Amino acid sequence: MITHSVSPETSKPLVSAVNVHKSFGDLEVLKGIDLEVRAGETIVVLGPSGSGKSTFLRCINHLERIQQGAIRVGDVQVGYEVRNGRVYHAPPSTLARQRKGIGMVFQQFNLYPHLTALENITEAPIGVYKERRSDAEEYAYTLLERVGLRHKANAYPRQLSGGQQQRVAIARALAIKPKLILFDEPTSALDPELVGEVLAVMRDLTKEGMTMIVVTHEIGFAKEAADRVVFMDGGKIVEQGSPQDVLVNPKHQRTRAFLNRFI
Ligand SMILES: Nc1ncnc2c1ncn2[C@@H]1O[C@H](COP(=O)(O)OP(=O)(O)OP(=O)(O)O)[C@@H](O)[C@H]1O
Ligand SMILES: [Mg+2]
Repeated sequence: MITHSVSPETSKPLVSAVNVHKSFGDLEVLKGIDLEVRAGETIVVLGPSGSGKSTFLRCINHLERIQQGAIRVGDVQVGYEVRNGRVYHAPPSTLARQRKGIGMVFQQFNLYPHLTALENITEAPIGVYKERRSDAEEYAYTLLERVGLRHKANAYPRQLSGGQQQRVAIARALAIKPKLILFDEPTSALDPELVGEVLAVMRDLTKEGMTMIVVTHEIGFAKEAADRVVFMDGGKIVEQGSPQDVLVNPKHQRTRAFLNRFI
């Protein structure tokens, strides 16, 4: 168990989701999600396929629009702005600014194949956030160092292993200096022998106090790195608590049934 320098009782939540509902047509996928995440916390989200985990992550940075409820990251409702006391959909420039605080890492890495590792990392800082190339590159080298890939700066994704590509993707997420990183099954597409190197980078981020919401089936990672484990099923949070509570002594039959698959 990793300890953090946060005091959960006093700090205001960085992420607050209240009664979040999301449907795709007639299909209600999120049926009232309530979740608070404090700065510095690592939350692991578990649940069966189709339970709404990815959808929930996508709602947090407004890749999906919710139909009911509210999600706040820091002081903003991502995707909305208030003018003269009324709430409006945010224009793309405002949305880009709001998303600057939120990094996302996907299962399939999603690196640009025609850009080198370095260029993948500097693309958003230079292209979207208008940082100076020299500053963005200097920081990108620092990040590559941090994920152990300084020597691969000029490699293209096809020249990298899956684990290396995912570490570049994490460096890219860090390049915008986010206060929150959303991980959607970051190791599921990797060969088993490459999972460890990616989890090691994520563990370092946890220790450094990054706020992370991680959808993963890596129960070992959840046990040692999560401050809280959330179990979702059928578009709802069935239970949440410490790794010990949820993974070792789950209260709900659905959680127990799900965890039995991993034994
Ligand atoms: N863009 C979409 N349009 C229509 N239905 C969608 C869309 N995205 C997701 N769904 C549906 O919403 C439900 C939840 O999907 P979601 O991807 O959030 O589940 P998940 O918990 O991440 O599952 P998995 O573990 O397989 O990744 C599924 O029934 C899925 O088919
Ligand atoms: Mg998913």
